This record gives sequence, structure tokens and C-alpha cells, in this order.
Amino acid sequence: MAGATGDLGHRIGLALLARGAVVRALVRPGSAHKPEVATLREQGAELVEVDFNSVMALTQACAGAACVVSALSGLREVIVDLQKRLLDAAVAAGVPRFIPSDYCIDYTKLPMGSNRNLDLRREFNQRLDQAPIQATSVLNGMFTDLLTGQAPVVLFKIKRVMYYGDADQPLDFTTTANTAEFTAAAALDPTTPRYLRVAGEVATVRGLQKAASQATGEPFKLLRMGGVWVLGALIKVTKALMPASDDVFPPWQGMQYMHNMFTGRPKLQPLDNARYPDIRWTPVREVLATRAG
Ligand SMILES: NC(=O)c1ccc[n+]([C@@H]2O[C@H](COP(=O)([O-])OP(=O)(O)OC[C@H]3O[C@@H](n4cnc5c(N)ncnc54)[C@H](OP(=O)(O)O)[C@@H]3O)[C@@H](O)[C@H]2O)c1
Repeated sequence: MAGATGDLGHRIGLALLARGAVVRALVRPGSAHKPEVATLREQGAELVEVDFNSVMALTQACAGAACVVSALSGLREVIVDLQKRLLDAAVAAGVPRFIPSDYCIDYTKLPMGSNRNLDLRREFNQRLDQAPIQATSVLNGMFTDLLTGQAPVVLFKIKRVMYYGDADQPLDFTTTANTAEFTAAAALDPTTPRYLRVAGEVATVRGLQKAASQATGEPFKLLRMGGVWVLGALIKVTKALMPASDDVFPPWQGMQYMHNMFTGRPKLQPLDNARYPDIRWTPVREVLATRAG
């Protein structure tokens, strides 16, 4: 797998090991001894330092694998260019299956230009679809973990759930841990379809309000900022005011993600949660409670 030193990637690695898989983590030179991967190594993963610019080196590193799992994060040079080299290597090494670093809302239902990071995934997946390899993308909505801080939706200080558009629009949330567990199960399942869709919980804004109130024991109210178009306009202004950035997640990227979700277009359906029945899906309330305490 690639991206094993990352937040999602190391969890996928551990979940694979827990399922008895043989895991080979491809890491950048110098990264094999990062503290983040110490547990992976202790649990039995093989850490292989590899030059990600070399298809030949990647091909050698992929030899004998049953599935290449990517949990890389980045912009074009990673999601499109590096993943293309990894894909070419997987094909050259005769690896039968590939799971790209998607882990997001259903970008196949979104128009080009509505989300920069998801456009890159769409571009890579077009290439993936042409390759002689069985591809599976895991789509999980938004990481529930983000609701405790990074995503300004549940505002703990003022006890409000801030939103745009319709408070009854269903939204998909899955914890990073559940996404990793599901991805590991999918990686070991040779019968997966092209897309697998999961949501630890499908919650509306009203559902988030209820979950936050239950998690904190204090009543939360709704804070409607306007229609979804208002958020669209805010994104344009923010992008115009901010200097061009090669941050993977500048402030307007999170806003684009929320905008996409509030439109309802990238809603995941049907859901494949039941495919691996041993996974226990963590509800939003439980995640919010970790922040409330
Ligand atoms: N749905 C959601 O709400 C949500 C939220 C967050 C993330 N995600 C997705 O989950 C996936 C993983 O994200 P993450 O947060 O786990 O990322 P992360 O913690 O930033 O880890 C990124 C990984 O990519 C590797 N990487 C980056 N650039 C590289 C390069 N040029 N060459 C080789 N390796 C490189 C890093 O290696 P080093 O350690 O060597 O730098 C690291 O292992 C991404 O697809 C991301 O978009 C989804």
C-alpha cells in the first residue's frame, strides 16, 4: 500500500493486519522509521522505501501483491501523476486489483469545476478505468472526525449547528477508523464492484442538532446562513481574496466540500455498509461526545 504513513493509510494498514493480510507499505526514502509507522512495523507490516518517481522501482515493490491500496494525499502531482505511476507499476507487476485514494463524497455525480480536489480524483479514475486492472473506489462522505473541529458545522462554543440550504438534506458521515476498516475488508475481497459506498451515519442538519444536544447534554439550535448559493458566493469571494495556494486543504476547499454536500448531489446511494457485517459503524453522536467531554 501507498500512503501508510498518513492518518487514514496507517489505519488501513493496521486493519489489514488485523484481518490477517500480508502488508507491504511503500514509503518515501527516509520515512520507514517515522514514529507513525512504528506500530505497523511492530504488527508485522513490511516497510519498503521506494522512489515514487520511478515506475521501475514501484513495479519491483508491487511484485506479488494481490491488491494495491493507495491512501496518498496531495494535489495533481500526487493524486494524478504519482498515482498514475503507481497504477502503471501495478499493471506491469501483474497486480490484479487497485484501490485509489478517493475516500470522499460521490464525485461521479458532481460537475467538473465544483471541487478542485475531487476533479483530480475524477481525472485519475478515468485513467484507472482504461487500465487492465480491477479497480474499486471507496466512497465514504465526510470523515465524521472533522465535525469535532475542522469543519465549522457543529459550533460547540455557541451551541449552534451552522448550515446552508435545507436542514433536512441527508448528508453522509463516516469515521476515519470505519473507512479504514471497510477499505481493508474491500482490499481482501476479490469480488468488489467498481464503487463501494458507505456511511457510518446518514444525518440531516436536524440530526446533527439532535446528536450534538445528546452528546453534550445541552440544547443546540440551528443557524441557517442562507441558501446553498450563498455558500457558493462566499467560496468565490474567499478564493478571489486568498493568494493562490498549493495547500491541499485551503479554507475554500472545506467550503467546496460542504457546498457539494448541502446540494445533495453527491449523496451516496445505495450504501454497501452491510457488505462486511463485522464492522460496527460509529454514530455521529459518539464522535461529538469525544469533543464534548
Ligand atoms: N472524506 C473526508 O472527509 C476526508 C478527510 C481527510 C482525508 N480524506 C482522504 O483520505 C486520503 C488520505 O488522507 P490523509 O488525511 O490520511 O492524508 P495524510 O495524513 O496527509 O497522509 C498522506 C500520505 O500521502 C503520502 N504522500 C504525500 N505526498 C507524497 C509523495 N509525493 N510521495 C509519496 N508519498 C506521499 C504521505 O507520505 P509522507 O508521510 O512521506 O509525507 C502520507 O503517507 C486522501 O484521499 C484524502 O483526501 C478524506
